Amino acid sequence: MEKIRAVKIDKGIIKTGTAKRKAIMETVSPTPDYRTSYPTYMDRRCIIGFLNSDLLLEKISKDISKYENIKYCIQKNPELKSLLNTYGLNIKNCDFVNFPTKTDEHMKQTALIAGKICDNLGINTIRKAKVIKAARLHDIGKIFIPSDILNKKGKLTGEEKSVIDVHAKLGHKLLETLNIDNETLDLIKNHHSYNGNSSIEQQIVSASDIFSALTENSRTYRNAASAEDAIKEISSPKYGFSKEVIEALKKSI
Ligand SMILES: [Fe+2]
Ligand SMILES: [Fe+2]
Repeated sequence: MEKIRAVKIDKGIIKTGTAKRKAIMETVSPTPDYRTSYPTYMDRRCIIGFLNSDLLLEKISKDISKYENIKYCIQKNPELKSLLNTYGLNIKNCDFVNFPTKTDEHMKQTALIAGKICDNLGINTIRKAKVIKAARLHDIGKIFIPSDILNKKGKLTGEEKSVIDVHAKLGHKLLETLNIDNETLDLIKNHHSYNGNSSIEQQIVSASDIFSALTENSRTYRNAASAEDAIKEISSPKYGFSKEVIEALKKSI
């Protein structure tokens, strides 16, 4: 096994020059139980560990622009990079990568459906543009979520779930450094925390997100639902979407 060049531990964040995850886990994490919730890594050069989702949010939010992962991830995806560049993101000299392609495909699909729902509801061009922008970027915060949690097969633990849940806030944190209007940012921040009283735009983004997630076959923990089954599920009162949004979604597929 290669030697670990450096391991720095700073309040739960672990960094190393080479990503030798197993060795590091054995070094810093003495028992198997502890390992499942302690360190993990985000890309091939930088390993971070976290104690809980609050710490992850706090650490990343402090200076989001310094996170190398975001550079690698964006570099890997020229279309996303150019999209973010149009909002003022300036990332240079990045040479490698780990962008979760399936997350990007999911965001594209969500934006496609959201645009159709807007058309079916007669949403005006300006509002529609914001809905599409929010849908296209809504899960960008997943760039910061460790890939072994994001791609885990099987059920997530409570802690893993709370880490994934931070992605909406992280996406908002990242994008608020760019030239994106507040309404779009709010749609992104609240895409999992809408309710029956949320704006029609919010409902469109969130319903499109759920529809897209249910019907795509790249999820590791379950099979894709048919469009009909997905609509049935989304129509359930537990989601709280208005009838007009559900009807417009039906017409969109
Ligand atoms: Fe999400
Ligand atoms: Fe999503």
